[in-house]
Amino acid sequence: IPVDPFDLVVFGGTGDLARRKILPALFRRYVAGQIEGDVRLIGAARSEMDATAYREMVREAILEFGGDEAGRKTELAAFLKMLDYVTLDAKGTQGWADLAAKMRTDRICAFYFSVAPSLFGDLAKRLHKHGMADDESRIVVEKPFGRDLETARALNRTLARHFHEGQIYRIDHYLGKETVQNLMAIRFGNVLFEPLWNSQYVDHIQITVAESVGVGGRGDYYDSSGAMRDMVQNHMMQLLCLIAMEPPAKFEPDAVRDEKLKVIRALDPVEPENVVRGQYEGGDAQPGYRAQVENADSLTESFVALKAHISNWRWAGTPFYLRTGKRLKERASEIAVMFKDAPHSIFGADAGRHHNILTIRLQPNEGIELGVTIKEPGPGGMRLIDVPLDMTFAEALGPEEADFPDAYERLIMDVIRGNQTLFMRGDEVEAAWAWTDPVIAEWDAQSDAPLPYASGSSGPDDALMLMHRDGRRWREIR
Ligand code: BG6
Repeated sequence: IPVDPFDLVVFGGTGDLARRKILPALFRRYVAGQIEGDVRLIGAARSEMDATAYREMVREAILEFGGDEAGRKTELAAFLKMLDYVTLDAKGTQGWADLAAKMRTDRICAFYFSVAPSLFGDLAKRLHKHGMADDESRIVVEKPFGRDLETARALNRTLARHFHEGQIYRIDHYLGKETVQNLMAIRFGNVLFEPLWNSQYVDHIQITVAESVGVGGRGDYYDSSGAMRDMVQNHMMQLLCLIAMEPPAKFEPDAVRDEKLKVIRALDPVEPENVVRGQYEGGDAQPGYRAQVENADSLTESFVALKAHISNWRWAGTPFYLRTGKRLKERASEIAVMFKDAPHSIFGADAGRHHNILTIRLQPNEGIELGVTIKEPGPGGMRLIDVPLDMTFAEALGPEEADFPDAYERLIMDVIRGNQTLFMRGDEVEAAWAWTDPVIAEWDAQSDAPLPYASGSSGPDDALMLMHRDGRRWREIR
């Protein structure tokens, strides 16, 4: 269904995120017929260029990052006509009158702040000063939303001076991933799982977001951030919330976000012995972390594993193990709900111990798998084996249906539709920082180095120990 007409300004319109994600996502929604009619997409950045040069830049970006749709020449030419460009100084006067002249007030106006957070305040202030923002306009802000509780609070306060919460769309692109939304469908669209979804039946939960790539060209940003700030405070935390939250009464923004917030607030502080951090070494002709970020003494972690506890009725006693890292064995993200053993085995000791596992594969090969216990075929005794009931979405739905849109496609359209369900509320972000800050502060106080791990491995051995100690094992990263 096409969205209503809108004008969208992308501040930082020549930047990496705009070229890789935002503009290709808009193009794919255009090809899909969701964006139509008189829409303006205005890039705004410091670079001196005119609209023609900007269109050429975007054309190249779409050819490189636009996926299969990039080959649609007629559509691409028509899409580029919607684009305009303004050279603009976020902190000065240049370009603002020009931008104001291009914006139309009879439609939805959205402003994407794809810039450093230090500019958020300037942009918000000038949008008002130049009469471009009213109660209906929307702003979209990217992570990192601060680097700790204090800076996040300051950012929230700055934005709140000019926009109310209902206008602020804080992006966590994990919430736009199809399989992440599927988590909610699986939990709350079936009767099968929810009665078992608690500490009485669930032994523990594992959340893994493993990347095979290193920090690449983002060394400067990453080295001042690290895996805890880059992945745990936001993406991992959101996954944890969706797995652990109580059923919201409705699939509506505040109903969902209230429940997520309760989870974060019920998290116990992480004990130092329950967190492991690592940093990858070089190997296979690949530079190690320190060489890559050009900081020989860097103490920044590229890997984190931790054990979390949620102190509420549903989850008391069920640990959540989280791990994420770069340069690991594979790119593989999954959530595994490990159920308890059957309370009593009628088949005797020989049958062994078995338990069900529900795995939600976020990427790649999106799908769900339910491990069930069956009889080993054959005329022998009653031996049991575990087999997967495996549903890869691509097989179950057909390749076309399972050709999932990129997270940004969904999220940007939600901004235009005015739906904040898949965006983070200010208090959620602050609560998440309140949980991760003490862990980071402890590392800073110790000033010892993260544990080295080999590129292409599963992370430092201590991460394995985190589970072994509890008589449990991480699932293979594959
Ligand atoms: C980003 C992080 O938010 O998420 C990156 O800044 C990380 O460091 C990326 O690589 C992972 O996203 P995805 O969608 O590739 O899993």
